[in-house]
Amino acid sequence: ASPTLAVIGGDGIGPEVTAEAVKVLRAVCGDDAFSFVDYDLGAERWKRTGEVLPDSVLAELAQADAVLFGAVGAAPGDKSMPSGILERGLILKIRFAFDHYVNLRPSRLYAGVPTPLAESVTSRGEVDFVVVREGTEGLYCGNGGVVRPGTVHEIATEVSVNTAHGVERVVRDAFERATRRRQKVTLVHKHNVLVNAGQLWNRVFEQVAAEYPQVQTDYLHVDAATIFLATDPARFDVVVTDNLFGDILTDLAAAVTGGIGLAASGNINPTREYPSMFEPVHGSAPDIAGQQVADPTAAILSAALLLDHLGRPEEAARVTAAVTEDIESRTGQRRTSEVGDAIATRVS
Ligand code: NAI
Ligand code: MG
Repeated sequence: ASPTLAVIGGDGIGPEVTAEAVKVLRAVCGDDAFSFVDYDLGAERWKRTGEVLPDSVLAELAQADAVLFGAVGAAPGDKSMPSGILERGLILKIRFAFDHYVNLRPSRLYAGVPTPLAESVTSRGEVDFVVVREGTEGLYCGNGGVVRPGTVHEIATEVSVNTAHGVERVVRDAFERATRRRQKVTLVHKHNVLVNAGQLWNRVFEQVAAEYPQVQTDYLHVDAATIFLATDPARFDVVVTDNLFGDILTDLAAAVTGGIGLAASGNINPTREYPSMFEPVHGSAPDIAGQQVADPTAAILSAALLLDHLGRPEEAARVTAAVTEDIESRTGQRRTSEVGDAIATRVS
């Protein structure tokens, strides 16, 4: 039987851009290569039924070979939706349940894409790097609480969790990726101040690095890393970092390489014990939803990451090449489906 892809379009522009990603997957692999199964989840589902992610749906998703995700979220200022309910109840729930310990976020500056980077910066070399962000630990795992809530003595804690097991597996993944790229890994942390977690990350990084003598290594404090992302991004190949630093660095990375319409990501379980989930970095963009003006490129590049993960690197490379050609030949405004059609034509 062909592999099953669970498709969660979600809200706003999510279903619009996901439809184009499915179109390109069909074009590059053939109509019968995958069975697509749609799931109705997100803010609209919650408003209708009060359900975010029923356990029965999670169990079904676990049977899929991979998940293609659009975006979820109501319009900002929609007070009927309690804050964080979809982030914690849907996106983070899937990430933790499926042990997505690698949050992969590639950044590439395509020719002709407007960038805030200075000419003196872009002329230093190709900007083409991936951030391997740890996805299951750090400050995002909900380890904390509130004491004396609502009083002037309130104490709120979020304690960062870093385990030897969790750090080692993500650092190892970064080195493996570097062997298939330009052979360089940069560790980003803040070990001069966050000494406990920092020592663990440093020690594990050095131990794993010793097994990859051909891979060049580098270390940057996170604050310095933000400077170099703006002044010398060509120095990066693979960046490995914790959950919070990775979240912030990758938004900056997207901003300097042409913005949110191009930024793709994968929530990956490299052991393949659970399905991995691929999604554009952007949200549901309620301001432009339903108008067919969203750029589906980030969703299509996320589908390329999916193909790579499912052992189809040749098809993944064809999608990436088609996107590159499409970006380089852009003139004027096109509808969402026209961008998808153009890329689908180039891959088929
Ligand atoms: P957003 O990413 O949805 O939109 C930010 C800005 O970028 C908007 O002006 C939007 O029109 C534009 N934009 C986003 N994607 C675009 C695309 N493909 N093509 C062209 N323009 C695009 O972020 P925002 O406005 O902060 O959040 C909107 C909703 O999305 C919220 O409910 C938020 O919680 C949710 N969200 C969901 C995410 C997810 O599902 N993983 C991630 C980020 C936000
Ligand atoms: Mg973010």
